[in-house]
Amino acid sequence: MFSKLIWQTDRMLYEDLIFRLEQVPSDNWYGQAFFRLFKRKRIVDKYQEFFLRHEDFHPKNIFELGIFDGGSIAFWFELFKPNKHIAIDYLDRQDSRYFEEYIQSRGLTDKIKTYWKTNQSDKDNLRKIVSTEFTDPLDLVIDDASHMYLPTRASFETLFPLVKPRGLYIIEDWAWGHWPAYIADEHPWSKIESPTNLITKIIEAAGTSVSLITNITITKGFVVVERGEEIIPDPTSFDIDNYIIKRPNII
Ligand SMILES: C[S@@+](CC[C@H](N)C(=O)[O-])C[C@H]1O[C@@H](n2cnc3c(N)ncnc32)[C@H](O)[C@@H]1O
Repeated sequence: MFSKLIWQTDRMLYEDLIFRLEQVPSDNWYGQAFFRLFKRKRIVDKYQEFFLRHEDFHPKNIFELGIFDGGSIAFWFELFKPNKHIAIDYLDRQDSRYFEEYIQSRGLTDKIKTYWKTNQSDKDNLRKIVSTEFTDPLDLVIDDASHMYLPTRASFETLFPLVKPRGLYIIEDWAWGHWPAYIADEHPWSKIESPTNLITKIIEAAGTSVSLITNITITKGFVVVERGEEIIPDPTSFDIDNYIIKRPNII
């Protein structure tokens, strides 16, 4: 799929699909229909690099957090052609006309489903959606929702235990706490905790137990966490802190 992407200044094209790149504003859109996509070329290139190294990864069950306009749902679906792709977002809105046409014209109503008004922090609701929609464990989770520490951690602690061994959990845009524009006083996120602390905990847990997390790939744009064989006795009370052994701070 990656080799068939066509990049133009403000858009990504894939076969007959048009993705407008939201981070590259332009006014050439009058009368056109498109997905709005919140990904830059450089992150898609990084995904290409990653998945070229994992060509044997063929996820059948995908759960995505953060829909926005559904552009990334189409992107991931076209990349992997899973049996099922479920996505959630806390906005009170509906699927766009372009998204609906994409689903209808390709007969994807049984394969792709969106849950609006669903907060990634609502652990019970996430579990309910997974148990309603999937009969097998998840192969791939992509969190591109709040990018805040607490909600990102809530989703990770809920969904990571539901990922099967060798399945992947991706956290996008985790690193903004290290970007000058985002930590400047005037930025609305300057007083909010970024996911860095969660990524640190994931690394500490990988160091503590080899069977919970078998691999971590960190790039500036995303982190990919590979699930190991560890049996989590009660997935509903998974707390990453319980999987970390660390010495008290030594100064
Ligand atoms: C960056 S956009 C997602 C973009 C989409 N994945 C893409 O690549 O085009 C982030 C989305 O996450 C949603 N979001 C933010 N906080 C959330 C939360 N706590 N729970 C669920 N969705 C949330 C926003 O409403 C927004 O639509």
